[in-house]
Amino acid sequence: MPLALIEPIRRAIKEDRVTTLARTVALLGESGAFESDLFLDPNAERYARRLIWRDPDDRFVVVGMTWAPGQRSALHDHGGVWGVEIVVRGTMLETAYRVCERDALGRVRFERERDRVCEEGSAGVLVPPHDHHVFGNIGTTTAHTIHVYGGAFARSTMFVPEADGFCRQQVVTLGYDA
Ligand SMILES: [Fe+2]
Repeated sequence: MPLALIEPIRRAIKEDRVTTLARTVALLGESGAFESDLFLDPNAERYARRLIWRDPDDRFVVVGMTWAPGQRSALHDHGGVWGVEIVVRGTMLETAYRVCERDALGRVRFERERDRVCEEGSAGVLVPPHDHHVFGNIGTTTAHTIHVYGGAFARSTMFVPEADGFCRQQVVTLGYDA
């Protein structure tokens, strides 16, 4: 990724973290800065993740994701790290969840809070503890999304639904496909 793209992101993060970052990333998207060659080809197994940029001081990473039609994430959190997400190509659906209850086994019951259809150029911000969501491609073409996270974001918790309405927690290490 050219430094000319990273510099506005780095500056927004340095100045006030997420407040202006979503706007900065949206403007970069509008200008056509996130070209298709930044992204991996679709992977039939699951959405593909590519590390585009890692800040040398580990303050943020920029990740490009490729989603075939119908592919979506599990219900997950962001491991205590804030994030900004923008749809570069395609149509995504973000469903946000609110934690309602935790049981003695550490399981969590969620309430579906809202659905947000994210068209091209749509940017959203996730700040823990309001960082539980599902993100997926609801369009008929491959979708590309850019994610800026406020740290390495190496681990996330997935929430696996069980029969009684609670979700079991499963901590996963996040890798990159390239
Ligand atoms: Fe997420």
